[in-house]
Amino acid sequence: RADSPVVVVANRLPVDRVTDPDGSSRWQRSPGGLVTALEPFVAGRGGAWVGWDGSAGEAPEPFESNGMSLVPVPLSEEEVDRYYEGMSNASLWPLYHDVVEKPEYHRTWWDTYVQVNKRFADRAAEVAADGAIVWVHDYQLQLVPAMLRQRRPDLTIGFFLHIPFPPYELFTQLPWRSAIVEGLLGADLVGFQRPSAAANFVQLARRLHELPARGSTIEYDGRTVTARAFPISIDAAAFDELAGSPEVVARAAEIRAELGKPDRIILGVDRLDYTKGIAVRLSAFQELLEDGMVEAPSTVMVQVATPSRERVEHYVHMRETIEQQVGHINGIFGALGGPAVHYMNQSVPREELAALYRAADVMLVTPYRDGMNLVAKEYVAARGDFGGALVLSEFAGAAAELRQAFLVNPHDIAGVKNQLVRALRSEPDELAKRMRAMRRHLFKNDLEHWATSFFDALRAQA
Ligand code: UDP
Ligand code: G6P
Repeated sequence: RADSPVVVVANRLPVDRVTDPDGSSRWQRSPGGLVTALEPFVAGRGGAWVGWDGSAGEAPEPFESNGMSLVPVPLSEEEVDRYYEGMSNASLWPLYHDVVEKPEYHRTWWDTYVQVNKRFADRAAEVAADGAIVWVHDYQLQLVPAMLRQRRPDLTIGFFLHIPFPPYELFTQLPWRSAIVEGLLGADLVGFQRPSAAANFVQLARRLHELPARGSTIEYDGRTVTARAFPISIDAAAFDELAGSPEVVARAAEIRAELGKPDRIILGVDRLDYTKGIAVRLSAFQELLEDGMVEAPSTVMVQVATPSRERVEHYVHMRETIEQQVGHINGIFGALGGPAVHYMNQSVPREELAALYRAADVMLVTPYRDGMNLVAKEYVAARGDFGGALVLSEFAGAAAELRQAFLVNPHDIAGVKNQLVRALRSEPDELAKRMRAMRRHLFKNDLEHWATSFFDALRAQA
């Protein structure tokens, strides 16, 4: 099967295999921004995608889907527990997001992380054609580049990290810090969301490994490795078209009616993750209600909080906290049949999300730290009517690009309240001006631009 000229390797396949209560299994779209961004790219190039199907046990045979060749990698129960929930999501995820929650380090998790990375590398080595380009993604697979190079020196190997990369002082907490740096240095090109993240990596190579490094290049093992920023994006035109379609526009009006025709709709859309600052925005909304600055139900908040990593302890706690907070706000400010906060702990399909974006007067995106945040970009792409206001955390990668958003520091509740009130009360002309500028940037810097820049830079290295 060594016939694929372009191979993408990511922890998740674009589809998840789920088992229904009656024992039958079906495929559904996988969660998260990585899949949103990569799927149109791989489908458009007819590439192969090596990844996990989200279930434990045996993996199905490779199969074709939507123009892609999907190559499932199996994980056992224990591997899901130690590699995915443990090392990836209870050690690396919190460490790389500014230790918003305290990371835990366990040697058994690490050993399993090494073992699973090896399996992904082996599978990629089997499907890649001679001299193929292999593009490895994200924090779950940081050892794959070096493992793959050892087996297949003929390949051109790229790596892209979708989440932030921490500064030296934080990263060096990691007991296996050297192995991770060496794993990444197996790539020809290491891509990050922000220039500061790339600089953090170059600094590590220099200070921790005493490697010669200049600007964005590192000399390692007789090769030159480049570390640069490639801010990820969305297929803006496709999302714009979807959100402007008659069905979605009609559905947006219907949503407003279902919510009781409020004057103002405030929207949040996130995986239920502690990095996203969902509690901050609920607190800001609650205080504004208490202060009498906004009133319910003429102003309502809709929060889509998609279930995520539900067996990891931090996520269990956070869900309890958020749901209590929603209950508290509704208990005080809700009316019969008219809650102040409409909370959905569900995965919402793209079409429905587009309609929600279109219906929302204010989009609240307040992560403490986020690699990019594609939800913010989708909101901008959805507003071809130039309506709506985006309130955006300075600590999301997207803030470096969407400069005309109402920027906030999520640690400063008073500041969030101020910006939210400003956004709610701005004149339509002012909002349209901001939206127009953000859309101009987004359409120029779309998914195609991201993928092409990365690929061009990678080919130039080969
Ligand atoms: N998303 C979705 N359904 C949901 C919630 C989110 O399809 O119920 C999508 C959303 O449209 C976006 C992605 O999931 O494309 C989230 O990406 P983002 O970069 O904002 O955050 P991540 O989840 O990757 O941390
Ligand atoms: C973020 C990560 C992805 C991950 C996604 C969903 O976008 O960068 O690598 O796939 O979240 O998380 P999950 O743990 O469900 O794959």
